[in-house]
Amino acid sequence: MVNLFYFFLFPLLALSTTTTTSSAAALPLSTESRWIVDESGHRAKLACVNWPSHLEVMVAEGLSKKPAEQISSEIIDLGFNCVRLTWPLFLFTNDTLASLTVRQSFKNLGLFEAIAGLQINNPSIIDLSLINAYKSRCTAQMINIHLVTNVIFQAVVGSLAKKNVMIILDNHTSKPGWCCSNFDGNGFFGDVCFNPDLWIKGLTRVATIFNDTPYVVAMSLRNELRGSRQNVDDWYRYMQKGAEAVHAANPNVLVILSGLNYDRDLSFLLKKPVSLSFSNKLVFELHWYGFSDGEAWENGNLNQVCGERVGETMRKAGFLLDQGYPLFLSEFGVDMRGTNVNDNRYLNCFMGWAAELDLDWALWVLTGSYYLREGVVGFDETYGVYNWNWCGVRNQTILHKISALQYPFKGNIIFSYICQFLRILSSVASHTCLIQQSHELLSFVLKTAGPGYSEARLHQVIFHPMTGLCVKRLSLVDPLALGPCSEAEAWTYTPQKTLTIKGTYFCLQADKLGKPAKLGVICSYASSKWEAISDSKMHLSSKLQDGSDVCLDIDSDNNIVTNNCKCLDKNSRCDPGSQWFKIIDSTRCGADNSLPEISSIVKLISKNLLASFSL
Ligand SMILES: *[C@@H]1O[C@H](CO)[C@@H](O)[C@H](O)[C@H]1NC(C)=O
Ligand SMILES: *[C@@H]1O[C@H](CO)[C@@H](O)[C@H](O)[C@H]1NC(C)=O
Ligand SMILES: *[C@@H]1O[C@H](CO)[C@@H](O)[C@H](O)[C@H]1NC(C)=O
Repeated sequence: MVNLFYFFLFPLLALSTTTTTSSAAALPLSTESRWIVDESGHRAKLACVNWPSHLEVMVAEGLSKKPAEQISSEIIDLGFNCVRLTWPLFLFTNDTLASLTVRQSFKNLGLFEAIAGLQINNPSIIDLSLINAYKSRCTAQMINIHLVTNVIFQAVVGSLAKKNVMIILDNHTSKPGWCCSNFDGNGFFGDVCFNPDLWIKGLTRVATIFNDTPYVVAMSLRNELRGSRQNVDDWYRYMQKGAEAVHAANPNVLVILSGLNYDRDLSFLLKKPVSLSFSNKLVFELHWYGFSDGEAWENGNLNQVCGERVGETMRKAGFLLDQGYPLFLSEFGVDMRGTNVNDNRYLNCFMGWAAELDLDWALWVLTGSYYLREGVVGFDETYGVYNWNWCGVRNQTILHKISALQYPFKGNIIFSYICQFLRILSSVASHTCLIQQSHELLSFVLKTAGPGYSEARLHQVIFHPMTGLCVKRLSLVDPLALGPCSEAEAWTYTPQKTLTIKGTYFCLQADKLGKPAKLGVICSYASSKWEAISDSKMHLSSKLQDGSDVCLDIDSDNNIVTNNCKCLDKNSRCDPGSQWFKIIDSTRCGADNSLPEISSIVKLISKNLLASFSL
């Protein structure tokens, strides 16, 4: 097994290449084990932002502030490649509303300023008819989906697609309005506003309508199931039905299933997987906010809380990655004012976790302000990427930090060829043992490497969640410092717990208290061993020559130093953020191992190799 592995992979791995990952994915998407990949088998990491369209006016937010196309390009400029568009199926209990235009709908809600804004920024949609609705009572919801095609999809999907932004449709609520509560009648199959048969019908219609819109890459069946009626049996019954219905109507889209308890719990899948007639299209989703855990982050010892919360999230959902399913973190986010201590503390822990697992995700939320939310006109969204008037970013610092997660740590190019090769091998091999071996090899590669030893051989980077930066070397004499993860130093974290710069004899060493960590070549002393300690496992601890314990830290200039370890006791006041690091597997190229021209050669070789095998 191991020999086979090296025999096939080494010639490819040995050639490091750089290729930009920013180019648009070849659609449609599918799944390879826990990864989402594009049509050519390259990884397509979803780095999305939620764009709500599910509130009372049922029009994507912000169109009174800016042209849809401009928002779409700014989404790309901010480094996102996809949008989770949330929309209510509807719930107009009022037939009179059926023939309203966008203009009238805003007018009825008294949103005159928004109308003026729409007139200037998106004049082409303002007189489109909002809904040519069917009869629509809560319990007998039917919507003329053309409403959605006209308004949201012409103006918004069209503009997103033009800019190569992928779109995930999320059936957020039945009744338009702010989501969610246990008592809003939208919570679970059988609730007042949630008739399962109509739900299947609605899903089928939407999937059908967009089956020729390639940028609609995924459909999530239902946001945040919840409430007193929720139960596992109905979950399997209806989710499997819904998934089959969507797939039958549009086999191109990824089908995203959410769990129970506001999308926090998928633990039931540990014992019983979903049973579907199709494969390579199934994704699970999870939501995780600071407030999901109450005030725990603010009131508890942060190392302890982080360890516990991550552990619980792994038990409730994270285990799905090991089972070979992608897990899409479709909502997370923080108060962008930076004053919410609970959120700030949660974010650092979350960032370490999400980076380590290299998850697909969608930030909540793009909105700077809502036309109308919970009765407030121009409701200021403190979690918003945009500021109130949508003309700038609310908090550059926080957004910049989160943008570290946009970059895939595990790559995407060459792997597809290896995969195809193994598939072909298993299909042509007559010997069952060989078939099994190539299957095993395939799943091993997928699990350990991600879809693609694209750019560099597997190595480790040292990630600093608080800043969203990585440890970087300027030269062999300068101190180590933090820098963008795209320029991260490539390390090897050995079983002896040394951190060695890949391809050299230099290892990371603790020197003196409060002084820079150094690079040295004698790596057998305790001062060269680094262990992930504390409940959070995010402190990297070593020993000084006198035997005292220190932890890796940063100074005010972002240089890497060693200090006394912080917050290891039960103290809840203290914030260990500056000392939190994660050693993360990566196959992405760092700054100085770029051999771009090799990439095409490798592709050519592997193509020829495959061609000869498929004969
Ligand atoms: C229907 O909507 C119209 C216009 O908004 C309103 O005047 C009317 O009262 C509504 N009727 C019902 C039954 O809600
Ligand atoms: C969305 O979910 C609601 C259930 O609350 C259902 O009535 C509706 O048909 C669904 N629509 C789509 C398009 O999935
Ligand atoms: C952005 O967030 C940081 C905390 O990360 C905070 O210190 C800063 O004041 C915030 N800036 C703005 C403009 O809100």
